[in-house]
Amino acid sequence: MSISSLPLNQILVGDCLPLLQTFPNESIKLVITSPPYYQQRTYGHEGIGNETEIQTYLDHLLVIFQECVRITRPDGALVFNLGDKYQNSSLLLLPYQFALQAIELTGVKLINQLMWHKLNPTPRQDKRKLVQATEPFFIFVKGMDYEFNQTEFMAHLDAQPVKNKSKSDIGKRYFELIELSELSTAQKQLAVQELTKVIQEVKSGKIASFRMKIRHLHAEPFGGQMGGRKMQLERNGFTIIRIHDKALKKDVIETAVESIRGNPHPAIYPLFIVQQLILLLSQADDVVLDPFCGSGTTCVAAKQLQRQFIGLELNPEYVNYAKQRVQEAEVGELELFV
Ligand SMILES: C[S@@+](CC[C@H](N)C(=O)[O-])C[C@H]1O[C@@H](n2cnc3c(N)ncnc32)[C@H](O)[C@@H]1O
Repeated sequence: MSISSLPLNQILVGDCLPLLQTFPNESIKLVITSPPYYQQRTYGHEGIGNETEIQTYLDHLLVIFQECVRITRPDGALVFNLGDKYQNSSLLLLPYQFALQAIELTGVKLINQLMWHKLNPTPRQDKRKLVQATEPFFIFVKGMDYEFNQTEFMAHLDAQPVKNKSKSDIGKRYFELIELSELSTAQKQLAVQELTKVIQEVKSGKIASFRMKIRHLHAEPFGGQMGGRKMQLERNGFTIIRIHDKALKKDVIETAVESIRGNPHPAIYPLFIVQQLILLLSQADDVVLDPFCGSGTTCVAAKQLQRQFIGLELNPEYVNYAKQRVQEAEVGELELFV
């Protein structure tokens, strides 16, 4: 677990594979990166992404992924963002091919695919396909002891008032559904009584919201023991799920594709997303690594959030820009998109 030999708070020029091979086992808390996409862009060098065969491209990425897994701590995580590509008018599903092979090869677990919804996607000429406006950020972990600070993730949303229906409309639809249901008269009475109670809890601010499930009208819990909600559905004909958090922490994140004035890097990923992932998956002083650091977005976010960073990048021109960006970054600067 020694990190003393790591190039902390530095961005190194070079091929990431031999550099990663010098890092000690289990020394990095969080790897966040976006490798070159398949046949999409040139980054001023013949490198990953220019392969003619898809599997050769994936193999190159997987060797690096394996090395990243080796150096990640047991309580750490690895986040890989990849884009897809069309070949013969059909999507290759490259991000998913990569994720499946990465899991098979290394035994990591894919705990989430955080879906980036691009607010300003690249328009396409092809009138017979929809514009592609999403890209996954895969969150892999090595074991079940991973750091996961859910309360930190998108915390700014919690501070916002919940945009609810007008208070008099809360639960209105459920009253109608109870009436339409096949519940007995006694069950309907109990359902109305419990629904009235839970609506009052929302109005008074005791809980954030709720969902009601009514037998034969909503999908029932599948499998498992005859307990909890399944039992309530069986016995009473309904069940109520109370939601205590103001904002649900969802696996979707919306933000625009970024470019930085004067920076020549063609594929900068959003600082906002990287900040949120760092908050979710690490603590202050932890080491955050980006083996394909490009314009330095991951290093900037790590510095802003008082983590230690390491960036690796093949193109020296990008490294110069990245170093400058990191130098200008202020500790504590957080982007608060909604
Ligand atoms: C998609 S970009 C990363 C952009 C970055 N996330 C950002 O926000 O600027 C991929 C980067 O990987 C770099 N690269 C390609 N092959 C590499 C290798 N073998 N080792 C290190 N960097 C490499 C490319 O030069 C490019 O800058």
